[in-house]
Amino acid sequence: MSKFYVTTPIYYVNDVPHLGHAYTTIAADVIARYKRLKGYEVFFLTGTDEHGQKIEKAAKAKGISPKELADSVVVNFKKLWERFNISYDHFIRTTDDYHERVVQEIFQRLYEKGDIYLGEYEGWYCTPCESFWSKSQLIEGKCCPDCGRPVERLKEKSYFFRLSTYQDKLLKFYEDNPDFVMPEFRMNEVKAFVKQGLEDISISRTTFRWGIPVPFDNEHVIYVWFDALFNYVSGIGYSTDQEKFEKFWPADLHIIGKDILRFHAIYWPAFLMAAGVEPPKRVFAHGWWTVEGRKMSKSLRNVVDPNRLIDAYGADAVRYFLMREVPFGLDGDFSHKALAHRINGDLANDLGNLLYRVLTMTIKYSDGVVPEPTEDRDRELENLCKKMIEDVDRYLDKQAFNRALESIWEVIRAANKYVDVKAPWSLYKENKREELGNVLYNLLETLRLVAVLLYPFMPVKMDEMLSQLGVESTPTVKDVAWGVLVPGTKVKKGKPLFPKLDEEEIAKKIEKEVKEAEKEEEKVEEISIEYFSKLKIVVAKVLEAERVPKTDRLIKLVLDVGSEKRTVVAGIGAWYEPQDLVGKKVLYLYNLKPRKLRGVLSQGMILAASKDDKLYLPEFPENTPVGAQVR
Ligand code: ME8
Ligand code: MG
Repeated sequence: MSKFYVTTPIYYVNDVPHLGHAYTTIAADVIARYKRLKGYEVFFLTGTDEHGQKIEKAAKAKGISPKELADSVVVNFKKLWERFNISYDHFIRTTDDYHERVVQEIFQRLYEKGDIYLGEYEGWYCTPCESFWSKSQLIEGKCCPDCGRPVERLKEKSYFFRLSTYQDKLLKFYEDNPDFVMPEFRMNEVKAFVKQGLEDISISRTTFRWGIPVPFDNEHVIYVWFDALFNYVSGIGYSTDQEKFEKFWPADLHIIGKDILRFHAIYWPAFLMAAGVEPPKRVFAHGWWTVEGRKMSKSLRNVVDPNRLIDAYGADAVRYFLMREVPFGLDGDFSHKALAHRINGDLANDLGNLLYRVLTMTIKYSDGVVPEPTEDRDRELENLCKKMIEDVDRYLDKQAFNRALESIWEVIRAANKYVDVKAPWSLYKENKREELGNVLYNLLETLRLVAVLLYPFMPVKMDEMLSQLGVESTPTVKDVAWGVLVPGTKVKKGKPLFPKLDEEEIAKKIEKEVKEAEKEEEKVEEISIEYFSKLKIVVAKVLEAERVPKTDRLIKLVLDVGSEKRTVVAGIGAWYEPQDLVGKKVLYLYNLKPRKLRGVLSQGMILAASKDDKLYLPEFPENTPVGAQVR
C-alpha cells in the first residue's frame, strides 16, 4: 500500500483559530480524505506552536502562564476541527515531551557536528512574526518587511545555524526538485532569495525563558522556528518510533500560507540536510483571504469567525466554498454574499435539485429501486464520469482544488441536461421501459460517483447523499469506478441536502456588521487635556532643506522654531522637493526625544496629514507668527 503524509502548519496559541487557520486545515483534510479514498495509507498531522516570546507576552497580558494559555487555546482548535470534521491522525503540541526531546537531541547533534556554533547576535527582531532581520531588510530602517510592524533591537549571545554553508546545496536541491515549492511562481521567489546569499541564522535566545532549553547551555532557549519545524518529524515518530517514521517520511505535502514560505522552503530543508534527513517532497504555499474586500483585521475576524460560519451555513458548505472560490495559491476575498451565492447556485440548484429530481423519478417510475441497465445503453454520462475520475485525480495531485470541483460540476450540469433531453416522463408515458431503466441507471450511477468524488470535500453531506442513493458504506477505492451501483438497491428520498438562502438579506446584514467593525477599528483611546498639553507643538519656518544622501524619502530640514534653530529629518521626500519647502511654515512637535536617522541627529518632528499614501502639509495664514503654539 502506498503512503501519503500531509501536514498543516502548527498554529500559534496566542490567538483563537480564525478563517485562515480553517482554510489551510480544510485543504489538508480534503487531500488526506482523497488519498485515503484512493487507497493510500495516510498520515495527517496538525497541531499547535506553543513556545516563544509572542506566546509568553500574550500569556502575561492575560495574567496566566504560557502553558495555561496554550491549554485553553488548544481546546478551541480541537473543537473547531471536530466541527469541521477534520480527520487528522495526530494533534501535536510543541510542549509535548517527545517533541521537546527530539528538538534537543537534534540541536545537540548539530552542535557536535559543527552546524551550530555560539556567536553574538546583533540585529532586529519582529516578535509578531518571530523573525530576525538585518538593517538593510527593514522598511524605512525600522519596520518588519513581512508585516510592517516596528522591530526591536537585539544584542545577545546566541547559537547560530550555519545556513550560509547550505546555499549551494539548497540551489541544487531546487534544481533537482522543481516541484518542491508550489505554485511555480513561489519556487522562483525562493530561488531568487537564496541566490542573493544566505547568512547564518540565530537559533537561540537568552532574553526570555518560554522555550525548549538548549540542552548543554541553560541560559538559552531554542528559537521557536527551529523548535516548530521539527514537529513534522517528531509527530510521526522520529527517534521514538523509527518504523513509523521510516514509513511516512519524507512528507509528501506540507500545506502552508504564503506568509511562512521562507521558513519551510529554505530553513527547513537546510535543517534536515544538516540532521541527515531527506527533505520533504512538496511545500504548497496558498494565498491569503481578505474579508468583504478588506484586510482581515481583529474586529473583522468576528464577521468570519469559523464557528459562526458553521452555525449559519453548515461545515460542508463552508468547506466547499473555501476550496471552490479561489484557485489554491492565489489570494481571494471571502464574502458572505459570495458564499450564499455558491450555496444556492452550485449546491442547492445544480447538485441538490439533480439528486431530488432523479430520486423522485426513481420512486415514481421504478418503484424506488435502481433499475438493471442493458448492454446497449447509451454511454454519454459513463464516458463523462470516467473522464471526471481522471481529471479529479490529476488536479488534486497538484492541489488544484477548484479545478477538481469544476470538473465534477461539468458532469453535474451534463446530467441535468441529460434529464431534460431524455425526458424520462415521456419514456414512461410511451412505455419505453428498457430505455427508461437505462436512463435512470445512468443518472443514479453518475450521482453516486459525484458523491464519492465530493466525499473528501463534504464528508457529512455526501454521506447523506450516498445514503439517499441506497449506499450505506463509507466510500473506498473500489467505489471510484463506473458501474458499482447494484441494480435492485432501494433508494430513499430525504430532506433537501442544501436549503436555499436569502442572498439579499444576508448581504444587507453583513454590510451593516462590516461598517460597525470598521468603526470599531477607528476607535482610539481617549486622552485627557493634561495629557495633550504635554505636547509642545509650534509653528516653525523652513530655513534650509536638502535630501539625505542615498535615500528617497528623507529630507533634512533646518527650522526656525521661534526661540532657536532646529534640525529635523522628515520622511516626506516622496511627496516634496527640498526647494519647494524653503520658506514654508510647518507644524513642529518640539519636545519629541531626539534620535539619529542615517547618521543625522533629528530633533523633534514636523507634522503632516496622510491618507491612502498621499501626504498633506498644513497651510497657515500669511501673518502666522513663528513660534505660535498649538493648544
Ligand atoms: O505561522 N488567509 O502560525 P500562525 C489564509 N506557528 N490563511 C491564513 C491567513 C489568511 N488571511 N492568516 C493566517 C505560524 N493563515 C507558525 C507556523 S509551522 C512549523 C509554524 C494561515 O498561527 C496560513 O496557513 O500564525 C498561515 O501559514 C498560518 O495561518 C499561520 O498561522
Ligand atoms: Mg502568523
